Amino acid sequence: MKIEVFYSPSQVDELFLRDKNVIVIDVLRASSSIAYALMNGAREIIPVSTVESAVKISGNLFGDVVLRGGERNGKMIEGFNLGNSPLEYTETAVKGKSIIFCTTNGSSAIVKSRYAKNLVVAGFVNMSTTLEFIKELNEDFSILCAGKQSLFCIEDSVCAGMIITLLMNDETIALELNDPAVAAAVLYKSMGKNLSRTIRATDHGKYLTEIGFKNDIKFCTDLDSVPVLPMLAGNSIKLRKKEILKPAPKTTVPAQ
Ligand code: MLT
Repeated sequence: MKIEVFYSPSQVDELFLRDKNVIVIDVLRASSSIAYALMNGAREIIPVSTVESAVKISGNLFGDVVLRGGERNGKMIEGFNLGNSPLEYTETAVKGKSIIFCTTNGSSAIVKSRYAKNLVVAGFVNMSTTLEFIKELNEDFSILCAGKQSLFCIEDSVCAGMIITLLMNDETIALELNDPAVAAAVLYKSMGKNLSRTIRATDHGKYLTEIGFKNDIKFCTDLDSVPVLPMLAGNSIKLRKKEILKPAPKTTVPAQ
């Protein structure tokens, strides 16, 4: 199984990702918000990369079954119903709703991967379901870290490294890694011991704490707390059906 990692969407274009299996990671916070919204009964998440597209797509249905969610600079966008704190995506807020979702890095990474063969949204909160899917699929895949404004970020890279490390521990799988994938595994080994503390100390972790979202970091680093698999189906992200019925077993974190 070949795994390649990209640390920012700026390293790839849509055609490069076409027909590949792509795992998009945006630990803080798009992956975690998307997974939690779907677990809480949201009908679908429709990712868009600009606020203008969000307003246009939601059109006349806005406010009824269609909500707008997302952020700019970490804060809710004017005229939107929800920001990008996963804690806002409660059952009461999202059940049965279609959510047009626009965030700075996460939704743009998803939009960039829209021609993928399979596109999965992953974070620490759904680590085991992601691994289960990868093993079941048993094909090469690419991990696209959403990063931060086209740059590398630690939280997404450590999460990518955790996926790779857990696969490396499975002796039935022969892995072939590109250099960034090897580096991600090394990063996880050195920084993955206390996820919450590590991620709190990152650039984005510090920023979120500063603007009042410290609790989101705890939520987004809570391993396997949202055991669902968000997958792109057409233009929207939905739950992979069987995940509703069968949550994955808890991840056993390897000794480091
Ligand atoms: C993003 O997509 O850039 C993020 O999820 C930012 C955030 O709201 O923390």
